[in-house]
Amino acid sequence: MRILMVTSEFAPLAKAGGLADAVSALSIQLQRMGHDVRVVMPRYYNIDRNRLEVSPGELGVPLGFSQAWCGVFETRVKGVPISLLDHEELYGRSGIYGSREEPDFHDNVRRFTLLCRGALQLVKRWHWEPEVLHAHDWPAALAPIYLNTWERHGLFEETGSVLSIHNLGYQGLYDKHEIVHTQLAWEDFHGTGLEHYDRLNLLKGGLENAHQLTTVSPTYAREIQTPEFGWGLDGLLRRRSEDLHGILNGMDYEEWNPEDDPLIPGHFSEEDLSGKEINRKALRREMGLPDDPGRPIIGMVSRLVDQKGFGELCGPSYGSLYQICDEMELDFVILGTGDSWCEKELRSLASRLPNLKVRLAFNNALSHLIEAGSDFFLMPSRYEPCGLNQMYSLRYGTLPIVHRTGGLADTVENYEQETGEGTGFVFDRLSPRSIYDTVGWAIWTWYNRPKHIDTMRRRAMSRRFSWEGSAQSYLEVYRRAIRRRKGVL
Ligand code: ADP
Ligand code: GLC
Repeated sequence: MRILMVTSEFAPLAKAGGLADAVSALSIQLQRMGHDVRVVMPRYYNIDRNRLEVSPGELGVPLGFSQAWCGVFETRVKGVPISLLDHEELYGRSGIYGSREEPDFHDNVRRFTLLCRGALQLVKRWHWEPEVLHAHDWPAALAPIYLNTWERHGLFEETGSVLSIHNLGYQGLYDKHEIVHTQLAWEDFHGTGLEHYDRLNLLKGGLENAHQLTTVSPTYAREIQTPEFGWGLDGLLRRRSEDLHGILNGMDYEEWNPEDDPLIPGHFSEEDLSGKEINRKALRREMGLPDDPGRPIIGMVSRLVDQKGFGELCGPSYGSLYQICDEMELDFVILGTGDSWCEKELRSLASRLPNLKVRLAFNNALSHLIEAGSDFFLMPSRYEPCGLNQMYSLRYGTLPIVHRTGGLADTVENYEQETGEGTGFVFDRLSPRSIYDTVGWAIWTWYNRPKHIDTMRRRAMSRRFSWEGSAQSYLEVYRRAIRRRKGVL
């Protein structure tokens, strides 16, 4: 199948979160299965142009009242061809969506219009007719709209479109007048569904227009159809529920393999866990914790934002982290970057608690060491479309402690105290108290049921969430999208 991916992130070229990993892994998997996958994304200025090939000629892309002229670079990631649109004014800065000073760039409508329209212009230059256009999240959401408007006829006449929701909490919401940049007419503001309470909502427009919709876990697909998780779009999603599919992300078992991971000092497997001890020691050393092998370590690697449960964990005079570290015999390590209130709070807590170590950085090597060297991994996310870190944790025998939501509910099996079944510790309602109680339960089990911890670890390590099965499910959705485009579904 000829598949065009339109995306704002692609690992390892540009990554703000799990979106980059998911799009990259899916593309590679589809290519390995013999499909013709091509990816179009922006060339942000931290992507070194010396490692890219220049494609001759400039590409004119309709934008606002005129044309933008882009350069095009080419590269490959594990065999998948990637085209990167280059534009000094719009992409010539660091930051994918924003910067510290400007968290959401003022010209993001122009930036991502250029991506969506540019991808289609580029494809026309190739004379390559994609059977499916697969767009990811709000930055790519205009692409399915163009297939139904400017590009309804011609090369894309039979191209089906799929829009994947990786996180409904980010919708690309702007002043309605910004629509001028998209070259969609005023009547399209209502007609395409871009209008949301008199504002421009890019994701909503995409969700109305794409022939099929997906999200990244079955539970999240159900949750977003409820007011609690729907961010104002639950009605739309309920209306389109026949076309909305929850397909669990896989994880990359080559990159995250405790048996030969080059980023950790001790290698280990389900049969022989002894290497884990080396990683625990190395993690303690790295984070400045005393060498006390008898104490369990709880790890976290996360964006420090409300979505991830940091309000309940460490919100000022509200969260339970202080009490957890103060009262329980454990060590706690956190790696992350994010909202300044949260960074400040964590810094202050760490200065008062000798068993809490915080690293405010984005550091891939350290994230591997935390996965490998911790005993438990905490993810109290308020909502979690899929989540990757709990899957990494399972693979590294680090038992996840999670809120039963989204992909966390679909991947972690709760501990049964009677039988020792399960792969982690799960709580139902997010609150400071439930985090405290569930961490307490895990720590109690560590000290009092070491055999159960050991068998759970091995069981967790044997679980597999592979991309092969998920890619098959996407192919099914692609076929439905094509049938819908042709009017036979
Ligand atoms: P989200 O995309 O919502 O942030 P995911 O769990 O899907 O959540 O993916 C997050 C990805 O980003 C994981 O691969 C995780 O290891 C990585 N990550 C997040 N913060 C950091 C950090 N500070 N350092 C290294 N990796 C990080
Ligand atoms: C989003 C979600 C995360 C998911 C990722 C990849 O960033 O927050 O849960 O794993 O996308 O699909």
